[in-house]
Amino acid sequence: MTKAVYPGSFDPMTNGHLDIIKRSAKLFDEVIVAVLINSAKSPLFCVEERVTLLREATKELDNVKIDSFEGLLVDFVEGNSVDVIVKGLRAVSDFESELQMAAMNRKLNEVETVFMMTETEYSYLSSSLVKEVSRFDGDVSQLVPPHVEKALKTKYSEG
Ligand code: PNS
Repeated sequence: MTKAVYPGSFDPMTNGHLDIIKRSAKLFDEVIVAVLINSAKSPLFCVEERVTLLREATKELDNVKIDSFEGLLVDFVEGNSVDVIVKGLRAVSDFESELQMAAMNRKLNEVETVFMMTETEYSYLSSSLVKEVSRFDGDVSQLVPPHVEKALKTKYSEG
């Protein structure tokens, strides 16, 4: 059985993330989507909200689980008997930092990182851009699932 982890901030998850989750769920027996709890950043959505949005989006995918982690990814990998890290690559600009992270993780724990090319229709998509567009009331309906669009609207109407 091959267990994969797909780590990220997911603040919030986008259709680009969902694309990688769905495709990895076909390749691996189990996929854990691991939401980073990063006390150094101040996210729009707290970790519980990010986890809930991901759970809703993946409820039909039986071999996908949503979890969260703090600290090093390799410790999560070890603690959960994960075989492989999955990352999405959108463009050449992602490559350098992803290469560094994969090499560091491999140094720390000999874990393999597998890269999947994001569908070209999502190659420009990022959580930060989605937040910016949504903050100024732009249309993000093609970029995130409907429940995430709703959560964004609620967040920005609160502020
Ligand atoms: O969605 P993001 O913010 O691009 O995801 C980055 C993430 C969470 C994958 C990365 O920051 C990470 O793995 N953080 C955990 C800390 C860690 O293990 N650092 C050392 C190796 S890179």
